[in-house]
Amino acid sequence: MSVTVDTRHPAEAAVDLLAVPLTSLPDSGKLPGRIAALDEATGGRIHEVTSSGDFSGTAGQTLLLHVGDGVKATRVLLIGLGDEKKLDTDTLHAAAGTAARAARKAKCAKVGIVVPAARKARGSDGAQALAEGVVLGLYRFDRYQKVTEDKPSDAVRAVLLADKSGDVRGARSGAKTGVVLAEAQNLARDLSNEPPNHLPPVELAKAAQKMAKEVGLAVRILEPKELEKLGFGAMLAVGQGSVNPSRLIVLEHNAPPKRTKKGTRKRKTVCLVGKGVCFDSGGLSLKPAASMVKMKHDMSGGATVIGAMRAIAQLNVPHHVVGIVGAVENMPSGTAYRVDDVLQSASGKTIEITNTDAEGRLVLADCLHYAQTEYAPVAVVDLATLTGAVIIALGSWAAAVVSNNDKLSKSIVDAGETVGERYWPLPLWDVHREHMRSKIADVRQTGGREAGTITAAAFLSHFVGDVPWAHLDIAGMADTERGSATHVAGATGFGVRTLYGWLKAGKGF
Ligand code: BES
Ligand code: ZN
Ligand code: ZN
Repeated sequence: MSVTVDTRHPAEAAVDLLAVPLTSLPDSGKLPGRIAALDEATGGRIHEVTSSGDFSGTAGQTLLLHVGDGVKATRVLLIGLGDEKKLDTDTLHAAAGTAARAARKAKCAKVGIVVPAARKARGSDGAQALAEGVVLGLYRFDRYQKVTEDKPSDAVRAVLLADKSGDVRGARSGAKTGVVLAEAQNLARDLSNEPPNHLPPVELAKAAQKMAKEVGLAVRILEPKELEKLGFGAMLAVGQGSVNPSRLIVLEHNAPPKRTKKGTRKRKTVCLVGKGVCFDSGGLSLKPAASMVKMKHDMSGGATVIGAMRAIAQLNVPHHVVGIVGAVENMPSGTAYRVDDVLQSASGKTIEITNTDAEGRLVLADCLHYAQTEYAPVAVVDLATLTGAVIIALGSWAAAVVSNNDKLSKSIVDAGETVGERYWPLPLWDVHREHMRSKIADVRQTGGREAGTITAAAFLSHFVGDVPWAHLDIAGMADTERGSATHVAGATGFGVRTLYGWLKAGKGF
């Protein structure tokens, strides 16, 4: 979909629904400049509700007005943004999402959103946030609902009504970026929401391949035979209990020409690694029934990497970026890997298996090794729904970042803050790494109940060399029970915006 930018006066805009986001108003209900003019065109209908106190502009407040002939739109929707000083990306996303959904619900084909005068909302960044909010807000996952009584049409078009004295060109390019980023998040959501019987590893790989062709990414899918040759003993063990074969998905943006030697490359190489467990039953260490629900989302780290790679290609990030997703299904069966097994990973290190439900770290161990040896990156970031422990620590308010490099870790936290996704650092010390040594193998798979998110990362660190590396545990963020103006229950697409924002900022590597 596209979100356009128009400099026509809001009263003159040919739209079916006109959304007017407003920051908190004074008690007098006095309206800011452009809105005062719009109000005049409505014959004072807006001021009527702001001066009476019926609408004050607190965050999340909405009020729908039917207005007369002075305005082209028949409906005007006032949307509260709250305190102007606290205005952030999140609030703009929510306002735009609210506007778009209201239009869809009222069967309005075209919605106009008046770009607020606040500094945060103007120019390229403001338009990006608003456009992104529109596309995120209209998302839904309904392809398996065959029988729907009244499904309002999806065809809502949005136009941002910008002040012509501002940076209109900036707003136009910001709106384009916002749409691309939101569509990338929606792709990640779609993949994660897809039921596991419809999206085993082979299908996930096909979806990645299809996307790669569309946006011009190089793509390579590796099958178990090739992975065996590469020594992927940890990742393949996880998949061996399933009838659905494993796949390694490799997507590459700005791949250097084949002949280029590693040392003479012009661009920096960054690897993004995703956990792609298409369904996590726990394996022989079977999950209890209630804990197995929603385990289709256990490939969300991988979905985020695939979504981010789409945006990275479309917005042409100036680095060599490699997305690597280990796609497997973790099932119990006669061929499943066992507790007490000792596996040999691609790095050569051996792993003592202590719980087959700690499968994600095995997949990542081989993928992380592959990323480093195959691509010699300047930084590696992995994303995974790795531990239940992170949900206990940070809930569904933040993802954990565990890293061997403080500068990289901080750059992720900062990038997240800019785009409206929260990350919080947890420590990784030598005591944690030591804790993961095994009596019979090089490392043991799990570290007990204490500090579960950190010990999982400590395990991973044994498969990471000197390269700056950050591990993002997104188990609490990948899916949500609650809806919001930009989310429906289900997959969130968390991490896509951060990865793009982090690469664009170019800090930390
Ligand atoms: N996929 C789960 C982690 C998870 C739990 C994600 C809840 C989303 C919601 C992971 O594979 C897992 O089962 N981890 C175990 C590790 C333990 C056995 C050391 C866990 O967290 O309980
Ligand atoms: Zn598990
Ligand atoms: Zn898992």
